[in-house]
Amino acid sequence: MNKPLISILMGSSNDWEIMQQAARPLHDFGVAYDARVISAHRSPELLLSYVQEMSEQGIQCFIAGAGGAAHLAGVIAGQTTLPVLGVPIPSKYLKGIDSLLSIVQMPKGIPVATFAIGEAGAANAGLFAIAMLALNDTQLAKRLIAFRKQQAEAIATIKLPSLS
Ligand code: RP5
Repeated sequence: MNKPLISILMGSSNDWEIMQQAARPLHDFGVAYDARVISAHRSPELLLSYVQEMSEQGIQCFIAGAGGAAHLAGVIAGQTTLPVLGVPIPSKYLKGIDSLLSIVQMPKGIPVATFAIGEAGAANAGLFAIAMLALNDTQLAKRLIAFRKQQAEAIATIKLPSLS
């Protein structure tokens, strides 16, 4: 197994349903990743040691998904200068608006790149991580261009039903 380049973290095992969408493009593009459940408030010591260990091992970025008062991405960003991509998980009562605002409203100086709530945000975080790696990997860059081309072709071939 290759050394992971991307770390995917989530605050609860319940977040995996959404966060597997971040893992999917990494898997499909052949990018090694490490996915874990570590909570900023339930297991803070483990989070500290994990971020330190992964940073020393050459991870390129963290993707963090959390819901509610979602401080996971911000806490990670406070401990590393590596890029942190935040995914707001839909929550029961506020439907992820709480998660989105918690992640996107980072105070000046410690950035978290924040994605859309839910599956689309998780998938785009995975694709964004690939785009960052592709800056220094021409093979990966070619595969990303091919993926975009496939999407363009799929749109171009859509036929709308005619009215009767
Ligand atoms: C956060 O609290 C997690 O990211 C999760 O989205 C939310 C609720 O956690 P569970 O009660 O589902 O474990 O830490």
